[in-house]
Amino acid sequence: MKHLININDLDKGEIQKLFIQASTLNENTHTSELLKGKSVANLFFENSTRTLISFELAAKKLGADVINVNIAKSSTQKGETLRDTLQTLQAMGIDAFVIRHSDNGICEKIKNWLNKDTILINAGDGNNQHPTQALLDCYTILQHKQNIIALKIAIIGDIKHSRVASSLIDCLNILGNKNVFIYGPKPLLPNSSSKANICNDFDEAITDADVIVMLRIQKERIEQDVPEIDNYHENFGLNRDALKKAKKECIVMHPGPINRGVEISSELADNLPSVILEQVANGVLIRQAILVRLFSDI
Ligand code: CP
Repeated sequence: MKHLININDLDKGEIQKLFIQASTLNENTHTSELLKGKSVANLFFENSTRTLISFELAAKKLGADVINVNIAKSSTQKGETLRDTLQTLQAMGIDAFVIRHSDNGICEKIKNWLNKDTILINAGDGNNQHPTQALLDCYTILQHKQNIIALKIAIIGDIKHSRVASSLIDCLNILGNKNVFIYGPKPLLPNSSSKANICNDFDEAITDADVIVMLRIQKERIEQDVPEIDNYHENFGLNRDALKKAKKECIVMHPGPINRGVEISSELADNLPSVILEQVANGVLIRQAILVRLFSDI
């Protein structure tokens, strides 16, 4: 495997191997020299806290040199194309690119511009894919639940514009879970889905759920007015009272950033059964595991 562009590039066995690698890294918390002499460039054309910093930390923990390219100060602002920017950095000796971009499918184009040994990782493209988030989400679920196939998993919020939702649903399907229930304001739901059950109301989605994933409204991707967004917490938000309908051992997840009091109450975000900060911590491990895997294959 040379790149990680789409979660569907991985099969169940490959995902399980990444999870074993992440657990091994977790037990050996000292920094390693596995990527010593290698260089990783993070190019984020959209904002990020978790993905950017965890990729930086992951690569540094493995001994790589890391460049966070400041897009706002780069020559892209003088009209340089993305292709020229990447090939310029590649000529300087960058071994791996981690890219976040607003264009759906951009990584499929980028991979054709790179040398044969240069690694490409998709850190989120438009509303299409966020494969490393899907992996860290499933890894977190498996830290709490035994049999992922049998779990009822509810994903609530702006599903239509969420690369987190699409990648997570794909990843769960690869791992054998066909029991995903999605719900949100009607204009923010897909018209149809072959991989998840579209619910008619909040209760249908969360009743007896083992896992609830709350998503923020992706305002940066919504062009039209969505009246359903008014009084959002009352109609679509999760709080301690609504959670009573889920299973007693249900865990609550959110990829972040959270909007407190909108899709999730502040009290629930900060307390069990929220595992939001566990997801963040696992993000570093999963990204380390991915870097180890991709560098070992070139
Ligand atoms: N979950 C996620 O992608 O967060 P950031 O936008 O902060 O990276």
